Amino acid sequence: MTTMFHTRSSRLPGFFRLSADERIRAVAAFAGLEASDLDALSSPDGLPQAVAANMSENVVGRFSLPIAFATNFRVNGLDYVVPMVIEEPSVVAAASFAARLLRDVDGIVAVSTEPIMIGQIHFPDPPPEGVLEDVVERHLGELRQCLDKNHPRLIAAGGGFRGARVRRLVDPDGRPLAVVHIHVDVRDAMGANAVNSMAEEAGTLLSEWTGSRVGLRILSNLPIHRRVMVEGRVRLGETAGTSTMPFDEAERIEEASRFAEADPYRAVTANKGIMNGIDAVLLATGQDFRAVEAAAHAFAAYDGRYTALAKWRVEDGYMVGRMDIPLALGTVGGITSIHPAVRANFKILGVREAARFAEVVASVGLAQNLAATRALASEGIQRGHMRLHARTVAAEAGARPEEVPLVVAAMLARERTDARAAREELLRLRDGL
Ligand code: MEV
Repeated sequence: MTTMFHTRSSRLPGFFRLSADERIRAVAAFAGLEASDLDALSSPDGLPQAVAANMSENVVGRFSLPIAFATNFRVNGLDYVVPMVIEEPSVVAAASFAARLLRDVDGIVAVSTEPIMIGQIHFPDPPPEGVLEDVVERHLGELRQCLDKNHPRLIAAGGGFRGARVRRLVDPDGRPLAVVHIHVDVRDAMGANAVNSMAEEAGTLLSEWTGSRVGLRILSNLPIHRRVMVEGRVRLGETAGTSTMPFDEAERIEEASRFAEADPYRAVTANKGIMNGIDAVLLATGQDFRAVEAAAHAFAAYDGRYTALAKWRVEDGYMVGRMDIPLALGTVGGITSIHPAVRANFKILGVREAARFAEVVASVGLAQNLAATRALASEGIQRGHMRLHARTVAAEAGARPEEVPLVVAAMLARERTDARAAREELLRLRDGL
């Protein structure tokens, strides 16, 4: 059934060999856009000064980072070319490589929950046990009515207030405090604005109804109800291929995964690798990556012990990876409609619903984890990094784009990636030695 909807292919063989202009054209062709639509991505003026000036305070200019595209992604039967903004070498190549491994057995399968965010209303001197609970229960209908009334656009989009619950806590000195959680369906928004204003409105009402002072009123950046579950498989084969993995390699990946599941020191590093991919997409799409980072790590420790977000197991002839992650993302609001490059990247992704977008983002995280774990469990990551580092050094030594691969190959053969080796190899090349 999935292939019925499959109209475009993110398999762009040789994409990495193209010039930047050719890549833009290939992405435009994939996304059905004019290359001119994508000017925002290649132009140094991708973010106009006047737009930048309104995004923050004390603005003096713009700050650039590379934008690249990961290929090969297939999620729930649809293909995606994924924009990634990242300064770290290897990340985009690794994502594309792992997405290739994961695409053949139905691609990555992703399931997401409803986009429910939590707003917190804090009671520093809480009403006695039962009173606040009773007030919230009796006024639930009124609370819904009042909060929804002020957010007609959210209601029109199908979102709105979904419920409330009371949590009783004790502070570090043993004093009681209480929190009311309001649950808000924010649809395609990240939701911070709607939830913050609903929390403030709910605070006023609850204070009136209980006669108690309200403290903070703010969204929680742990969106425990807004999650994406992804699963990807690679077929096991006799040898390593573009879409198969040998059994012993899969076993080493499982071994590495079990290490990360058992040890917080390793889990943080594995999760950092996942966030390499996730954050890169979030930057390219103007998301609040700080919120997503905070949530991911809190969720990794949700059971009281920090662990790996993704798990890999050898199962019935497949290497199977699974990840469950909270993702508060928006396809509307924030800078999604005002930053030209962000707009272009959403057109390329072709996602309008925040949930579909989150499914792609989680898939990139899973793929990134597979690529890193595979490299670590086999040759280590330094070899790949050396190659990319050598490319930069060769270019810095003055190699023209067509000379770079030859200089790099010669440097790697000598196992030297310093500036002097680059200059020597460039001279040898030009002298025809
Ligand atoms: C480096 O940025 C990310 C890795 O350390 C992730 C990992 O160890 O799984 C390679």
